[in-house]
Amino acid sequence: MAPKSVTSSRTTLTELMIPSYANFGGKIHGGILLSLMDKVAFACASKHSGAYCVTVSVEGVNFRQAVEVGELVSLMASVNYVGRTSMVIGIKVIAENVRTGSVKHTNTSYFTMVATDDDHKPTEVPPLLLESPDDTRRFLEAMKRKELKEIHREEFDNEKSRLRVEDGGLEVLKNERCVVKSEEL
Ligand SMILES: CC(C)(COP(=O)(O)OP(=O)(O)OC[C@H]1O[C@@H](n2cnc3c(N)ncnc32)[C@H](O)[C@@H]1OP(=O)(O)O)[C@@H](O)C(=O)NCCC(=O)NCCS
Repeated sequence: MAPKSVTSSRTTLTELMIPSYANFGGKIHGGILLSLMDKVAFACASKHSGAYCVTVSVEGVNFRQAVEVGELVSLMASVNYVGRTSMVIGIKVIAENVRTGSVKHTNTSYFTMVATDDDHKPTEVPPLLLESPDDTRRFLEAMKRKELKEIHREEFDNEKSRLRVEDGGLEVLKNERCVVKSEEL
């Protein structure tokens, strides 16, 4: 398979934040932003792979600043990493106040998308052509994130076994802001 450049699938989605996207506090629902992120990740991954893609994992979703009604939200997506059938799509989200011109960076998240064939089975994607130092840095960072996620998953599985109530798991709750109603729970 011929490699494809990061530039060839780079995708930007811009959407006006309308009142129906707001929650009771007047700010934009996190779910609206997540849905837009999923859309742009799908578009970017589909362009790279030439296949129908599905979302398998979402990482780094931390909303650092609220988005307001009337702001223009832009989601910039690019392929950061490719495996055999999976692609990590990095998405930078910014919100712009068109009247003042101020721009805020609300979050950067990473969606892992898998290319699928007509039988909904994972299918191979083209390698990634890294044309700039930023492309290479993002690929290396994605590899490290993947490696650390695996280590974290293994550590968590080990720790989980120590959290069983019957093995004294309740001890660790002593300084937490909770009340255990019955030790038999
Ligand atoms: C995506 C899906 C087809 C993968 O099927 P599978 O049998 O797990 O396939 P594999 O184990 O071969 O994994 C496929 C790829 O996904 C990656 N993957 C699987 N789970 C993952 C996870 N939690 N995080 C990151 N990558 C993951 C694998 O590493 C593999 O990547 P690679 O080929 O680049 O090495 C299947 O899990 C699925 O249909 N999930 C539901 C997707 C969905 O409905 N999403 C929401 C709506 S779009």
